[in-house]
Amino acid sequence: MTQHLAAPAAPTTGTTGTHTGWWRDAVIYQVYPRSFADSNGDGMGDLEGIRSRLPYLKELGVDAVWLSPFYASPQADAGYDVADYRAIDPMFGTLHDADALIREAHGLGLRIIVDLVPNHCSDQHDWFKQALREGAGSRLRERFHFRPGKGENGELPPNDWESIFGGPAWTRVEDGEWYLHLFAPEQPDFNWEHPAVQDEFRSILRFWLDLGADGFRVDVAHGLVKAPGLPDLGAKDQLKLLGNDVMPFFDQDAVHEVYRAWRRILDEYEGDRILVAEAWTPTVERTALYVRPDEMHQAFNFQYLTTDWDAAALREVIDGSLAAMRPVGAPTTWVLSNHDVTRHATRFANPPGLGTQLREPGDRELGLRRARAATVLMLALPGSAYVYQGEELGLPDVTDLPDEVRQDPSFFRAAGQDGFRDGCRVPIPWSGTEAPYGFGPVAGGPSWLPQPDAWAGLSVEAQTGDPASMLELYRSALAVRRSHPALGAGESVDWLPSPAGVLAFRRTAADGSAFVCTVNTTGAPVRLPLPGRLLLASAEPATDGPDAELPADSAAWWAV
Ligand code: GLC
Repeated sequence: MTQHLAAPAAPTTGTTGTHTGWWRDAVIYQVYPRSFADSNGDGMGDLEGIRSRLPYLKELGVDAVWLSPFYASPQADAGYDVADYRAIDPMFGTLHDADALIREAHGLGLRIIVDLVPNHCSDQHDWFKQALREGAGSRLRERFHFRPGKGENGELPPNDWESIFGGPAWTRVEDGEWYLHLFAPEQPDFNWEHPAVQDEFRSILRFWLDLGADGFRVDVAHGLVKAPGLPDLGAKDQLKLLGNDVMPFFDQDAVHEVYRAWRRILDEYEGDRILVAEAWTPTVERTALYVRPDEMHQAFNFQYLTTDWDAAALREVIDGSLAAMRPVGAPTTWVLSNHDVTRHATRFANPPGLGTQLREPGDRELGLRRARAATVLMLALPGSAYVYQGEELGLPDVTDLPDEVRQDPSFFRAAGQDGFRDGCRVPIPWSGTEAPYGFGPVAGGPSWLPQPDAWAGLSVEAQTGDPASMLELYRSALAVRRSHPALGAGESVDWLPSPAGVLAFRRTAADGSAFVCTVNTTGAPVRLPLPGRLLLASAEPATDGPDAELPADSAAWWAV
């Protein structure tokens, strides 16, 4: 076995059930570098800012940190358009800063997962610029999907695919050829049939593994391989079809070969490095294919993320997720928010069924109550959980950003009809009473998106020590989870009888210790036989004699 350890190895704890691996029950915190902490006062978060806040993350009690892209990039899609996969964008810092960040995280016992964007690069990537220069029919164009157009003069796109950000998935270049971009025109798709593309990404993986990265979150993992011949889809409103079926550009079976090859590379390295799939597939069963034993380790559970606050729906998705992962032996993951969707404190404040791009603040108090309960539920489930920066502060989505400050390319591509992702990307508040609330070093200094005035009251400083705050709930829940072997462990839950609108399940650890989790998703209190000794609650249940009364929209853990 080759040893490639430039940075100090990450800690080696973590065992769950019959399988081992730190990642099986890890709580992984997503840092969105633009919006986490700005060390130099330019209004944009940076790596040095993240490094300086690592003690906060350690104290919060997470196991690992996933960093959204920090690579050299023209920022046409907030860094998901990478111009150089081995360089840090100057606005985020230097490679030296990345090295220092990884080392310091490891010193604190935190692992670092970096974001890898293999489906597409930036139109400013050297390969693409060269391909454009070399002209139609050149060999370098084969690394992308260049095609002649249809129609008498090639004036029509080569096929009918639409971009995820709206409009055709093809852009025509000066010499008349078209290139494929499933996202923005500044994000040309790589041709994954091409050996140079495969080789390049294997080398990029090694670059970051050598630097000490503990793993990769793989962007658009379901998109790399396209159906042979790039066949028409033959359907209008393609965005509505996404997630319902296997598409000619998504979730093609041949994509799994890529991850088998990558897994072999990761396995050469010490220290349990992992691959995490961002794979939007039609079913949890298809998601499970990405985490077969010789492929990736985890996949985001988007079916869970998109489930409404409803006991029956939650139970169905929990059972379905656990059942889908069991045959492949992978842990299930649980996630409520990320940088692409309306924050769950706002989703749960709105009526169900509105999707993940909302413009209405809804009922803040209701949203917070449910968000607290949803966290207590999520952290009780067997498997790994993802926390998106700021959810531990109960941040709402900023639904009233003026259009002129927005930067999300999907907002502009769809003529303002869709794509409100900036609302969940607003820099987070740390301290003080004046914006940017400790996000940057100087009160009154800039932040790349404006923060609402009310965020002074939501800062880390304002919530610290307040037992009723969201932050203290996260801190307590993560501490209890670490000390209680049944929380997060295992591959199944035992459902207990419960009234409509209420979930109750039991988990027993290998050492025989057990707990019960109760969740009341209704808007009224519910009485139950006392499940055990209260460990933690999103809202304090009243316990009187043999009964417990669960407040509306609340969840609790009970030792049994
Ligand atoms: C992923 C990212 C998203 C980005 C897209 C294109 O879905 O999470 O932010 O816009 O890929 O790279």
